[in-house]
Amino acid sequence: MNRSIIVLDTTLRDGEQVPGAKMNVSQKVEFAQQLKRLNVDIIEAGFPASSHGDFQAVQEIARKVGDSVSVTALARAVKSDIDAVFESIRDAEDPFIHIVLGTSDIHVEKKFNRSQDAVLQMGVEAVKYAKTLLPNVQYSTEDASRSDFEYLWKTIEAVVKAGATMINVPDTVGYAVPEEFGDLIRRINDRLKNLNDNVILSVHCHNDLGLATANTLSAIKNGAEKIECTINGLGERAGNTSLEEVVMSLKVRENYYQCRTNIHTQELLKTSRLLTYLTGLDVQVNKAITGENAFAHSSGIHQDGLLKDKQVYEIMSPEEVGVEKMELILTARSGRHAFKNAVEKLGFATDDANEFEHLFEKFLALADAKKEVYDHDLFYLVTGHRSQA
Ligand code: KIV
Ligand code: ZN
Repeated sequence: MNRSIIVLDTTLRDGEQVPGAKMNVSQKVEFAQQLKRLNVDIIEAGFPASSHGDFQAVQEIARKVGDSVSVTALARAVKSDIDAVFESIRDAEDPFIHIVLGTSDIHVEKKFNRSQDAVLQMGVEAVKYAKTLLPNVQYSTEDASRSDFEYLWKTIEAVVKAGATMINVPDTVGYAVPEEFGDLIRRINDRLKNLNDNVILSVHCHNDLGLATANTLSAIKNGAEKIECTINGLGERAGNTSLEEVVMSLKVRENYYQCRTNIHTQELLKTSRLLTYLTGLDVQVNKAITGENAFAHSSGIHQDGLLKDKQVYEIMSPEEVGVEKMELILTARSGRHAFKNAVEKLGFATDDANEFEHLFEKFLALADAKKEVYDHDLFYLVTGHRSQA
């Protein structure tokens, strides 16, 4: 039986922190509604203590979208932040408070300038306070991947005893590599299951070395039950784990991971495009799953193979992620078979070998000049040729 992985989307919190990604309150609500259609399990709607606007957005999302999806928001380990989170999410059906506090030496010494025990105590007090407000509390051990393991575990043990119901292990600066991160999660998981089997183990990765998806998958393989990600991988610096990449990896490689998510994958492209529209931040053309070229095959060998059987060069169908119609973009390397197929699809079949060769030569000249030839180019090429003939 496949394990079910809980998906938290933090596009509206970690993603929206990015320069240039600002959305207003109604745009955030519109995006949260799309996340609900995508069927994420949890929406992290913002960081309400950071500004009045953020508070308002979290509150609107909790009220308008939080009926069938769980809603959370971020707090530092201080009472005023926790109060702001509680007030903003309390109207949602299934809200929980998310507390973050660093565990690495550099955070403890440089950021807080306190002893390890004093920082740990701050975390415990914060969880105890949050528990007076809501039953479910997530605790994030910020910079976990650069933390001393025994101190990290001591913190996890203490906050679980104080009532934390979810432990989130962040690779805050994208420093981890897959084998090592998987190992960290396995070690934590082994101890956590002995301490309290009901506590959910979660991961949150950043992409500074381009490894966020790989690290998240490695964590899943080693026992993580919940993942935090963003649409298009939007997030601080090089971004967060891309939701679409992990979800489709689990789907395409289901036999290997033996895990599934509740995501309605046909909504992935729409969600990605909506985010681009709302933020003005484009997705790189070759981005996995949602990039413009993610399902475009341009080389002749590939196009020829696809025309024989899609599975020759496709590991998932474009329709699975919401691409409605896949146009083969022709190039000078596409070859006769792909060209013939494309013109026939446009309704221009020809049995005349001379006419076909003539059209193909015209096509090659156009492809040399233009690099990419689309359906509308072919349409003009063929109709122009026939009106002159
Ligand atoms: O990257 C990080 O550590 C975070 C935490 C708040 C989970 O975003
Ligand atoms: Zn983060």
